[in-house]
Amino acid sequence: MSHIVMRNVRKTYQMGTNTITALDGVSIEINAGEFVVVLGPSGSGKTTLLNVLGGLESPNSGDVIVDGENIAGLQNGKLTAYRRHSVGFIFQFFNLLPTLTALENVGLSAEMSKNGSYPPHDILERVGLDDRLDHYPGQLSGGQQQRVAVARALAKKPALVLADEPTGSLDVQTGIDVLQVMRNLNRETGQSFVVVTHNSAIAQIADRVIRLGSGKVHTVIENPTPFEPDEVEW
Ligand SMILES: Nc1ncnc2c1ncn2[C@@H]1O[C@H](COP(=O)(O)OP(=O)(O)OP(=O)(O)O)[C@@H](O)[C@H]1O
Ligand SMILES: [Mg+2]
Repeated sequence: MSHIVMRNVRKTYQMGTNTITALDGVSIEINAGEFVVVLGPSGSGKTTLLNVLGGLESPNSGDVIVDGENIAGLQNGKLTAYRRHSVGFIFQFFNLLPTLTALENVGLSAEMSKNGSYPPHDILERVGLDDRLDHYPGQLSGGQQQRVAVARALAKKPALVLADEPTGSLDVQTGIDVLQVMRNLNRETGQSFVVVTHNSAIAQIADRVIRLGSGKVHTVIENPTPFEPDEVEW
């Protein structure tokens, strides 16, 4: 649901005497409820962009306005609350807790929420895993683990869901399935999604595609052509 405006965001890293510019004056707008895909070559700033959006890193300068609040200027406590309650993260390697079942992994996230939460069982059913509730991550396939991670991110009803290469460790078809699950949930819940991927074919299910190059916005495309799996060349 988040409406996001990034204005002239700069993020640099100091490595000894060397200054690395990861984001070099990024300005973008994301409407509430959009499914956004971020593309760009390795090192172009995609992960940094997500980390700044998610409050994991603070920019050196510029504004990151989420639903009217500039999170670039938030103090630590408030930033932690923003991360915990307003943002759901999905990672390339799932990051599930190995000693908890699918249901418990999702339940833990739901318990932390102050926004209310979706019942863990229901959200797992929505991602097609109602018959795997008591499985541990080690007893699930990669695609199933990532669907648990999607359910975990969504269970706490965050306004914004951020996913960094969520299909990066899955085969092509499983990756498409997981993205389709994410897209369906986005339509049902109205939660905003920002998804980083290397795969430009996947971009075609998005409302908006942001292409980065060398820390700058290269192009923004709204409503790319509808996803037609048969036309996609992998
Ligand atoms: N913690 C850090 N310290 C120093 N430099 C960093 C740090 N994080 C990122 N960088 C640098 O910032 C630039 C952007 O990195 P980023 O991780 O955002 O790229 P990316 O687009 O996600 O790449 P990939 O597709 O390989 O994941 C890179 O040149 C990287 O080396
Ligand atoms: Mg990255």
